[in-house]
Amino acid sequence: MSDRRDANEASNSLVRFSHVSKSFRTARGRHQVALEDFSMSIPRGAIVGLLGPNGSGKTTALKSLLGLVRPDGGTIHAFGHPVPRDQHLVARRMGALIEGPAFTTSLTGERNLRLLGELHGTGRDAVADALELVGLTHAARRTYSGYSLGMKQRLGVAAALLSGPELLVLDEPMNGLDPEAVRDMRELLKRLRDERGMTVVVSSHILAEVELVCDWVTIVRHGRVICDSGIPELLARHSGHLVVRLADVASARTVLERHGHTVVEESGTAGLRVTTCTDGAEALRLLTAQGVYPDEVVLDAASLEDIYVTAIRDAARTAP
Ligand SMILES: Nc1ncnc2c1ncn2[C@@H]1O[C@H](COP(=O)(O)OP(=O)(O)O)[C@@H](O)[C@H]1O
Ligand SMILES: [Mg+2]
Repeated sequence: MSDRRDANEASNSLVRFSHVSKSFRTARGRHQVALEDFSMSIPRGAIVGLLGPNGSGKTTALKSLLGLVRPDGGTIHAFGHPVPRDQHLVARRMGALIEGPAFTTSLTGERNLRLLGELHGTGRDAVADALELVGLTHAARRTYSGYSLGMKQRLGVAAALLSGPELLVLDEPMNGLDPEAVRDMRELLKRLRDERGMTVVVSSHILAEVELVCDWVTIVRHGRVICDSGIPELLARHSGHLVVRLADVASARTVLERHGHTVVEESGTAGLRVTTCTDGAEALRLLTAQGVYPDEVVLDAASLEDIYVTAIRDAARTAP
């Protein structure tokens, strides 16, 4: 790990994409836009979920950060350095697993890592440490071909850890894993953050895979970032739902609608579902101030899944 902090790395973001664009020429000679006005940041010490449907630009964004794809426009800074121009200054500070690991199937996990370690100039200790971190010490001497998919992916993470990076970049590391292996991978990411202070960016097209570990989510659609937020802030912003049950539905409706809240009567119950323009607590204060007291109140916390689906849907609606 580098102990020299770069002077211009004062901000809390390790990585910043600003207005990045990239399009590819397809085999048919068409231009395929992969990134368009793409801006996001990766806060230090966080696990960042880069979420979006297939084809939304996640891999292109991560490859651009690693210098594997050259953007057409915009800027990317990693550790305060512009990339790809100064990639050599930051290469060892980033470890990556993109598009599955490439290992020699007839060799053991340990041997594979040693060979990679020689390329990086890292010693046996780094290999043993990486195997230990990803929970593969027990399988170090088994041949790679006998590994389960989950073990293969974790060996890929171990390879990414060999240079002692501060930022780990994982592109769809949970793709195709069974639920137990997904859980193992999540635990591994948490361990890297909590025990090693690492920053992790992990892409996925399946929210459920990452929502339990992420501190921050960036949602991408058609190459654009449509949401870039810390999880607590995101949930707080979307907590404007309230369900009230009360005898005097009509009075409640009048009071709430007069103040701009959207009210839907729940059929068959003496209940109103209120989508507030401020927050649930505010709507409740309004009711009681007018002498309308509900029998029952439920403040409906939004789930990240609601937010993900809504963000993708809203972006579709407002797309040019
Ligand atoms: N090398 C390439 N040549 C042509 N088109 C590409 C290439 N790489 C990506 N694309 C296109 O760019 C868009 C974004 O792709 P990608 O970054 O792989 O998305 P994701 O990782 O979110 O699935 C897609 O439409 C994809 O077909
Ligand atoms: Mg991809």
